[in-house]
Amino acid sequence: MSLLTRAEQALSTHFEQAAGVGAPPRLVSAMRHAVFSGGARIRPQLCIAVATACGDDAPHLTNAAAVALELMHCASLVHDDMPAFDNADMRRGRPTVHKAFSEPLALLAGDGLIVMAYRVLLQAGAQHPERLITLMDNMTTGVGLPHGIVAGQAWECETTADLAQYQRAKTGALFVSATCAGALSCGEEPEPWAPLGAYLGEAYQVADDIRDVIADAASLGKPVGQDALHARPSSAQALGLDGAIVHFDHLIDQAARSIPACSCRDMLRQLVQLEAERLVPKALCEGYFKAHPVVAKGRSNATH
Ligand code: IPE
Ligand code: IPE
Ligand code: MG
Ligand code: MG
Repeated sequence: MSLLTRAEQALSTHFEQAAGVGAPPRLVSAMRHAVFSGGARIRPQLCIAVATACGDDAPHLTNAAAVALELMHCASLVHDDMPAFDNADMRRGRPTVHKAFSEPLALLAGDGLIVMAYRVLLQAGAQHPERLITLMDNMTTGVGLPHGIVAGQAWECETTADLAQYQRAKTGALFVSATCAGALSCGEEPEPWAPLGAYLGEAYQVADDIRDVIADAASLGKPVGQDALHARPSSAQALGLDGAIVHFDHLIDQAARSIPACSCRDMLRQLVQLEAERLVPKALCEGYFKAHPVVAKGRSNATH
């Protein structure tokens, strides 16, 4: 079974179990809309891939950890799209949750998904209480203070923010949680797997900044030009497009190199390379520079 299929199946099963019966139907629909709408599922795939490298001796717990992290991610997107944050109308090619269901339901759907993440993990951890505690701690590190998603989003409310710190918190931290969760769910030490999550997660946000400039809304399924519109710190703005692409390539290279020696190293490296090409396709960069020769002139030695 592919990583993606395992992640999708686990999400469906755990979501239905955790939602239970009798909840307000519009709230459950809003939560479904947030989760089952074509996300790339990179975080749960990473978790499962690392668990596979670590022996995968508790697949039920691994799946629950992977699902919990994806639920946290989906919750962060619901809140991120709301008018108080990025005020985005589209996500994954569909109306955002507050557009489709109203602002109160979007707020509650995000809250509901966060609590559901804890519930999924708690319900799966009975046979491995020690692993469960480490997984809970790992998840809160990726989401909370001082360096998780919540902190990352809050840097947008400060007058100054360090770009790398902002990106590592709002996006990188949950990737670190994802790779570490794969190891922790197997009772292994997480530290060797943290750099893969950190490099790939930062690369993800750099890619998001690049695509915010050079991609189009239809292919991304969400609005573009948002960083300039909201004056967000952005790699493309700080480094220039060519500099951001070089930085992205460097982070991807570091991510691939950081993978510990294990029987799954080739599979993990391939996952990283496939993600790199999916995130910042070479053809997209070339097309952009062809159409914008002034920007292209400023290109130094972009390798991507
Ligand atoms: C989008 O994350 C938000 C960022 C952190 C850049 P993804 O690119 O993983 O979004 P989905 O889950 O595939 O929609
Ligand atoms: C998303 O940041 C990271 C979150 C913590 C939600 P962005 O605002 O840059 O991501 P997109 O472009 O809306 O997906
Ligand atoms: Mg945002
Ligand atoms: Mg946004």
